[in-house]
Amino acid sequence: MLQNWLKESKYTVVFTGAGMSTESGLPDFRSSNNGLWRKKNPSKIASTEALNENVQEFIEFYKERVLGVKQYGPHKGHFILAKWEKAGIIQSIITQNVDGFHTEAGSKQVAELHGTLQKFHCQSCKKEVDSETFVKQQFCQCGGVLRPNIVLFGEMLPQEAFQKALMESEKAELFIVLGSSLSVTPANQFPLIAKQNGAKLVIVNLEPTEFDSFADEVIHNRKIGDLLEELDHKIKANE
Ligand code: NAD
Ligand code: APR
Repeated sequence: MLQNWLKESKYTVVFTGAGMSTESGLPDFRSSNNGLWRKKNPSKIASTEALNENVQEFIEFYKERVLGVKQYGPHKGHFILAKWEKAGIIQSIITQNVDGFHTEAGSKQVAELHGTLQKFHCQSCKKEVDSETFVKQQFCQCGGVLRPNIVLFGEMLPQEAFQKALMESEKAELFIVLGSSLSVTPANQFPLIAKQNGAKLVIVNLEPTEFDSFADEVIHNRKIGDLLEELDHKIKANE
């Protein structure tokens, strides 16, 4: 079905989560085997509270994640989505990921709901630095701690990305979720908004999600990279 809907849809939006980047080598958060939040309590690490009361662990955690993002990069699935955008097969991507891999693979229309690990800013004077500076020195000249430009637990999402995601979800005829457990608000509302506005909803995720019952098609136990490659071959074969 997904292959036909991809061909028929005039406005297709792809929504990605950490499962989009596991085939690049980055761990996700809630996979039963090695999700990051299976080993650490996110509210103690990736929160504004951690930034004030648990700075050393906060710095170590994000240094590790920045080094991971630099060590790896987009995989075949990211490049296929970028190619499909150029070919007009999909129109935009809404991502919860902070690794920047969609943009690195060439996608242009990307709403980064949870910000990006590529940029940091000083918690005190707000001076912005790049991630290389953060890896070398974790504190600003003013003495303040450098924190990533991402949404921490308890923070508001960047309004521009939020509004873009809302617009895209309302316009979608086909809304495809790739690699998200859909466990975090308000990100997990966009598949519902698309559905409420008449879109077909497809969820591709190794494990079941809380939103499977709302989907028109659910694909479990398939790795995203392989599935996108298979769909790409089928679309090319029918050109
Ligand atoms: P939550 O429901 O507690 O938080 C939802 C967040 O979305 C709240 O901070 C709230 O302020 C914000 N929000 C709600 N409605 C909004 C709206 N209309 N416009 C803008 N923002 C709105 O969920 P949570 O599990 O505590 O996660 C909080 C946020 O922190 C999520 O976005 C989560 O993904 C993010 N987070 C990011 C990382 C990371 O590494 N990137 C790590 C942990 C948490
Ligand atoms: N192919 C398909 N699905 C996959 C793959 C893969 N190769 N790898 C992992 N998955 C699935 C897992 O089964 C898991 O259910 O992707 C899902 C990822 O879900 P989470 O780990 O919860 O990640 P995500 O949904 O992006 O988390 C949302 O929570 O901590 C916050 O801000 C953080 O953006 C993150 C948000």
